[in-house]
Amino acid sequence: MQSTLTEKQSLIDIDTINRTFHLHNGKVSYVLGVEENEVLTQLYFGHSIRNYHGLRQYPRIDRSFSPNAAGANDRLYSLDTLPQEFPSYGHGDFREPAVTIKQANGSRITSFRYVSYEVFNGKPKRKGLPATYVHDDKSAETLAVTLEDQVTHLKLKLSYTIFRDYGAITRHAELINDSKQEVTIERLMSLNIDFPKNNYNLLQLGGRYAAERSISIEPISNGIKTLDSKRGSSSHMQNPFFALTEPGISESKGEVYGFNLVYSGNHKTLLQQDPYEQLRIQMGINDFQFEWKLAPSERFQTPEAVMVYSAHGLGLMSQTYHKLYQNHLIRGNFQHKVRPVLMNNWEATYFDFDEQKINAIAESGKKLGVELFVLDDGWFGRRNADTTSLGDWYVNETKLPKGLSALSKAIHSKGMKFGLWFEPEMISRNSDLFKKHPDWALQVPNRGISLGRDQYVLDFSRGEVRERIYVQIKAILDHCGVDYIKWDMNRNMTEVYSSKLPPDQQGETAHRYMLGLYEFLDKLTTEYPNILFESCSGGGGRFDAGMLYYMPQTWTSDNTDAVSRLKIQYGTSLVYPISTIGAHVSAVPNHQTGRITDMEIRGNVALSGNLGYELNLGELSEQEQQAVQKQIEFYKAHRELIQFGDFYRLLNPFTGDQAAWQFVSPDKKHSLVMFFTIMNEASLPMNILKLAGLDADTEYLINGNKKADGDELMHVGFYTDPQPAKDFTTQLFELKAVNSQD
Ligand code: DGJ
Repeated sequence: MQSTLTEKQSLIDIDTINRTFHLHNGKVSYVLGVEENEVLTQLYFGHSIRNYHGLRQYPRIDRSFSPNAAGANDRLYSLDTLPQEFPSYGHGDFREPAVTIKQANGSRITSFRYVSYEVFNGKPKRKGLPATYVHDDKSAETLAVTLEDQVTHLKLKLSYTIFRDYGAITRHAELINDSKQEVTIERLMSLNIDFPKNNYNLLQLGGRYAAERSISIEPISNGIKTLDSKRGSSSHMQNPFFALTEPGISESKGEVYGFNLVYSGNHKTLLQQDPYEQLRIQMGINDFQFEWKLAPSERFQTPEAVMVYSAHGLGLMSQTYHKLYQNHLIRGNFQHKVRPVLMNNWEATYFDFDEQKINAIAESGKKLGVELFVLDDGWFGRRNADTTSLGDWYVNETKLPKGLSALSKAIHSKGMKFGLWFEPEMISRNSDLFKKHPDWALQVPNRGISLGRDQYVLDFSRGEVRERIYVQIKAILDHCGVDYIKWDMNRNMTEVYSSKLPPDQQGETAHRYMLGLYEFLDKLTTEYPNILFESCSGGGGRFDAGMLYYMPQTWTSDNTDAVSRLKIQYGTSLVYPISTIGAHVSAVPNHQTGRITDMEIRGNVALSGNLGYELNLGELSEQEQQAVQKQIEFYKAHRELIQFGDFYRLLNPFTGDQAAWQFVSPDKKHSLVMFFTIMNEASLPMNILKLAGLDADTEYLINGNKKADGDELMHVGFYTDPQPAKDFTTQLFELKAVNSQD
């Protein structure tokens, strides 16, 4: 420890006598300690406290078959049961380690012990990996604790940032090879927390293609549970997020701990409840087939994990993530800008379009108020189907004989912005690029390459591969007037192997790919700050905080069905802000589910995110076109509130046949409520809808006629339509403070 007895920053207290570190901000507290033998321990994480007085000192007890660590010849003290902050395996802790390093002598045993700490105002900028940031050093404080393995002299630096205004702490680890020998990292998690015995449940966001981020809650029992992705991306199947929730958790009540990894590649969450019912949790890069060689004086940093604590249910947890990400993760010119109403031709045409058709579709959108036209897949190479041309990023002259810039001009002349689809990380087997550079696809020598949607994955860990794609994209951006890019990624990785890396570094390929991708995105988004980027991976297959650092919005799902979207958008909103959620009205019968729904519900669901249209509006009836025009007008008047207001979930479509959510302006003078009935039934019970987030003392005008006070609306509530005449209905309520000027 450093020399002062007690150091009191405003957010981080350090007690050098009792050897504790306390991060707190009135919303959350996180306490670390240094135990006997310089072991870094986890003492407390939860509701904010003002001071920590040592109440969580771990009791001394002799546990049979729990050895006493080398150097600590005390039968009452074992690492096997001690709640630690960053445990290793091999000195008596038989639980899962947070770090495993293979050393020159073949051993994997390490023991990282406390050496020193530093405290900084603000948050040091991270290089190469996406992470939360601060512009103003007053908005956060950072604690960095250094541990060392005395035998190898490897150092482990654990960094924690606490934000002044949010119940959130971010953390990551960095391994520094101060030894004289090369080592191999086999596992290095971003976070480990050992919780004492508790009764938390596990909430996770699993899913699948077209059904992303489904909420499920389950009890935790003894043993190990892993949630992971080995797909080379964060995936549709398992979002890199989980939460520990108190039994009976609701939107407004109960304790929740949320954990989100700022990473878009292979990830892993591990929960281990030990025989004493203590819970170890870990999150980080998936160590499955992962290895990283670290030469003397090199460093390796993990992705950042964002931990949010809420004492008031899931609602506050989500609002904390939303605000933190809006203000301290998303960057660039569009960070706080309302997003345009877009129109995308994918479901309107698929690959079957030409210039005339596109112009006509765009025109139909323009008439009704659409602001941005996005030309999706099929405009390049010989791309008339998904079997060809990825990697050949030059215009398809059969479809667009006058070229892209002519089309872009035509769209601009209508007074609309022009957007373009790319899938830069991929290469078609049938492409000029593959003919020329077959070795640029990820592949293992002599094994053949598995196809996914008839395409291979480019080896983005290689600089020359990235450069070639960059040059092609740049040529288009510099000459064709592009205002928006949809960055797609339509298959997961197989045969993960890079011909550029030696055999003993092949375990680095998947992570090097991500680092290459992040470098590419950083360069592109910096060079083209006026382009609005939307990430996509077959819909929401890479909807994660890593991508949001570069691209401020994401195409949420390829499933555009309004009813399916209720669940998808509800689940997504658990972590990710509304301004990031792309949501489009599409044609009926819906192309994914075959369901027929009214324009009204399709509109209300889509305008609960970044509104877009993915159909030929010109083919709609006059009446429907009028409805669309109204939706767009309404959206434009309310999008600031929707995209950047406070979001409250009211009724959960995962547990019932209704859904509802609410947007509230920061000054609480304006609110929008969406209510949806999914399946209708005869003789339905009467349902009361209670609102949230309003000012109790304010009187509100509801839909321009009825008046009620905020406290009434939140506690008394009101009956929703008792007899929706059919399935898939929706009601919208707009609330305005009676004395509001606007
Ligand atoms: C998958 C995307 O999610 C769709 O929206 C569309 O862009 C297709 N790819 C195009 O191939």
